[in-house]
Amino acid sequence: MNLVLMGLPGAGKGTQAERVVANYGIPHISTGDMFRAAMKEGTELGMQAKSFMDKGELVPDEVTIGIVRERLSKADCDNGFLLDGFPRTVPQAEALENILTDLGRKIDYVINIQVDQEILMERLTGRRICKSCGATYHLVFNPPASAGACDRCGGELYQRPDDNEETVQNRLEVNVKQTQPLLDFYQAKGYLKNINGQQHIDQVFSDIDSLLRDLK
Ligand code: AP5
Repeated sequence: MNLVLMGLPGAGKGTQAERVVANYGIPHISTGDMFRAAMKEGTELGMQAKSFMDKGELVPDEVTIGIVRERLSKADCDNGFLLDGFPRTVPQAEALENILTDLGRKIDYVINIQVDQEILMERLTGRRICKSCGATYHLVFNPPASAGACDRCGGELYQRPDDNEETVQNRLEVNVKQTQPLLDFYQAKGYLKNINGQQHIDQVFSDIDSLLRDLK
């Protein structure tokens, strides 16, 4: 099961990835999470990524492609993977085709979670994430049972530094510009599956699940 999850910032990629991984046992490969982990560890990659992420800009293709190539060649990807937030540009998509050809693999589906842009600002500024286990919540749409604490592990919830209004605005502009050519690229290859992301979280997953059951 070789999957790519696409969608504008806040479309629900991370939220759905958690469910896909729990149900299908494939690794979740989020370039955003990999950059944030590198930032936390204070590595050179982390410092480099931070300067772009803080402004809501994309990290340069050559950096991003390198870390994905390395990650996809790890043994836990042998039975499949769920890429989240990669590719984000046509050169990244072309590089992914080459990486997978080298590995003797091909993409099964590119799942594109569609949400109108106006809704995304509210989703992102209201998002809270668990410091310990990474579970995602929303103050209004998916609140934790007890304010500020994770339902799953009791960890402290925090707000991502790039979820402030100004940075979100730029992230949306940057990503909107890159998205259509990428959708055209995957449409032409016949991989693209659009999912309505403006439904309840459970219903969005149910639609993705129906699609994935055919691949089992
Ligand atoms: P990344 O970490 O990938 O962030 P993003 O694409 O901006 O996406 P998000 O994680 O913000 O949103 P999401 O779609 O996962 O939404 P979520 O499920 O949390 O990238 C961050 C940065 O890293 C980029 O800006 C860039 O700088 C860099 N980067 C990463 N990849 C790169 C690449 N390939 N190339 C270059 N640079 C790269 O949901 C959002 C909120 O909505 C949550 O609170 C959730 O509870 C709620 N929600 C979810 N679904 C629903 C629903 N159906 N109804 C109501 N609320 C919902």
